Amino acid sequence: MPHIVFSENNKLITPSNSDGVDFNFIAKSYNNSDKPRKIEYKIGVTSQNKEFLLTLKDNNENKMIKADKVTRVTPVTIVKDALNTYSTFTEAKVTFSNTNNFNQKLEPQKEYLKDINYFVDEFKTNKEIQIEIGFGSGRHLLYQAQCNPDVQFIGLEIHTPSIEQMLKQVKILGIKNILAINYDARLFMEFIKSNSVGKIFVHFPVPWDKKPHRRVYSNEFIFEAKRVLKYNGTLELRTDSRKYFDFCVGLLTNLPNGRIEIDINKNLPISSKYEDRWKKQNKNIYDVTLYSNSNDDEIEQEKDFSFEQKIDLVAVFQTLPKKSQVFDDFFYHIEELFIIENKENSGLIQVTFGSFNRPVSKYLLIDKGNISYFQGEPIPTSSNIKAHNKMKEILR
Ligand SMILES: C[S@@+](CC[C@H](N)C(=O)[O-])C[C@H]1O[C@@H](n2cnc3c(N)ncnc32)[C@H](O)[C@@H]1O
Repeated sequence: MPHIVFSENNKLITPSNSDGVDFNFIAKSYNNSDKPRKIEYKIGVTSQNKEFLLTLKDNNENKMIKADKVTRVTPVTIVKDALNTYSTFTEAKVTFSNTNNFNQKLEPQKEYLKDINYFVDEFKTNKEIQIEIGFGSGRHLLYQAQCNPDVQFIGLEIHTPSIEQMLKQVKILGIKNILAINYDARLFMEFIKSNSVGKIFVHFPVPWDKKPHRRVYSNEFIFEAKRVLKYNGTLELRTDSRKYFDFCVGLLTNLPNGRIEIDINKNLPISSKYEDRWKKQNKNIYDVTLYSNSNDDEIEQEKDFSFEQKIDLVAVFQTLPKKSQVFDDFFYHIEELFIIENKENSGLIQVTFGSFNRPVSKYLLIDKGNISYFQGEPIPTSSNIKAHNKMKEILR
């Protein structure tokens, strides 16, 4: 990460502007423990219309400024420029800097790679949707997209190199009906409309025999999958793991408004990379397909991330739990407080919260007692909303 080390500099006055970079505020770590730590500051910056924080560490002998991990923005050149501007603006006596090693990189082709905000706010299609979970090398997904040009495919993967490899093929083959997203399938379905999906493919998922809580299939996942499936839509598991197959058959048996079909060593027109591997080892391949026989209601997801209350920042922070607060399917953890010294009752509280599989880290910005999320609201997953409501309760 780009950073600059220096021995001394002039004090940064905020708000101020230099070279197109706005330095909005500076907040100092609030040391509430008996063991004094190094002093750390968070500097609120806006540059090229992006808002983020810089971290300034001061250990008496030297100081270091770098990007704050939680609020990182892309491309990295924006951060690099803000660091250089800070250093020049405050006339820092620089002893080390690596900011010139970070040059403008070409952004990867984004046309068919979307982030979760796109699916939350913008995604619309009149086409039938089909989803592949954990597409890996993408062989099956690419084949399906080519055979079904009228279907909008969504490919979910959490392994970045696989996504890049699949998107290269999308470009080479001139495919226009795949959108890929790097997101955990267990949390994604919440953002898809009811009765809009024809097929969900889960081919050779990791069986996670030792960590069953990491499996894609669970009662909650099946409930969401069934909701998004059209009448007669299918959720298709294909696996070489007898244990995983039995586990899924158990979950799928006797569901209201659903029926299952099971198969062994069924031939498909396309064999995925993993399928080839297991076939070479003469392993059995099991299929269990759920057919949805219901039309489900649209879910009305609450999206309110506001905090109506005003707080007395330091007094309230002292009453907050310092350990993770864990509930059934979500948690929250109040981390650190940073105080904006030249503005009354203002600062940042760092928080981590949401689902155990995909926690979110954010800062709450307290501006004269009013609370909001720095860099905007979190993604409205049900676990984020539940965690928000709990934090709202205690921030009083
Ligand atoms: C064993 S590979 C199978 C890949 C491919 N379907 C095939 O048959 O060759 C399982 C894939 O699922 C992905 N994966 C695992 N958990 C996931 C999750 N929760 N959401 C999305 N993808 C996931 C992994 O990154 C991996 O690429």
